[in-house]
Amino acid sequence: MKIGRAETKDLPDIERLLEQVCKVHADLRPDLFIAGNRKYTEEELSVILKDDSRPIFAAYDDDGSFMGYCFTAAEEHKGFNEPPHKTLYIDDLCVDENIRGRHVGRALYEYVRNWAKANGFYNLTLHVWENNESAKSFYNAMGMKIQLYGMEEVL
Ligand SMILES: CC(C)(COP(=O)(O)OP(=O)(O)OC[C@H]1O[C@@H](n2cnc3c(N)ncnc32)[C@H](O)[C@@H]1OP(=O)(O)O)[C@@H](O)C(=O)NCCC(=O)NCCS
Repeated sequence: MKIGRAETKDLPDIERLLEQVCKVHADLRPDLFIAGNRKYTEEELSVILKDDSRPIFAAYDDDGSFMGYCFTAAEEHKGFNEPPHKTLYIDDLCVDENIRGRHVGRALYEYVRNWAKANGFYNLTLHVWENNESAKSFYNAMGMKIQLYGMEEVL
């Protein structure tokens, strides 16, 4: 397996996996997500792929086939009430549905963690939907801890 920055050639695979994630979310919250759609348009993805403050990392099999991605976004914290620090936000992480459970997610996460450490980030953060039990178990297995709770009342 090889992991590195995703490239424009990966666009079709990234779009395919974005649809898989959207389906996972739509199955959990059909009131909030539309199955068959994806989070970003092709135009938005083309911009993100070139943005060094929002690196997308990708895992490839030895034959070059696309296995999964991790979207990230660098955040600078320098508010009046906080010590200055950088956070790497994991915006989206997905392994192709045909090869889940084979430690591709772990390899991607560990690569991103090492990259963040080497680039002076203080922490990694992300949001995960309640009831996405497999993702919660995965992040727990990676050593992540709950930082805060997002609350909601549907009206
Ligand atoms: C979550 C996801 C990225 C994990 O990737 P993966 O390659 O399947 O996971 P790994 O094989 O690296 O699993 C690493 C560890 O996480 C835990 N884990 C992974 N999937 C799990 C599941 N379905 N149920 C329980 N634990 C799980 C296990 O502890 C596992 O270690 P083990 O195999 O030695 O027991 C992948 O399942 C996925 O793409 N899911 C759909 C998209 C999604 O929900 N993404 C998160 C959005 S926030």
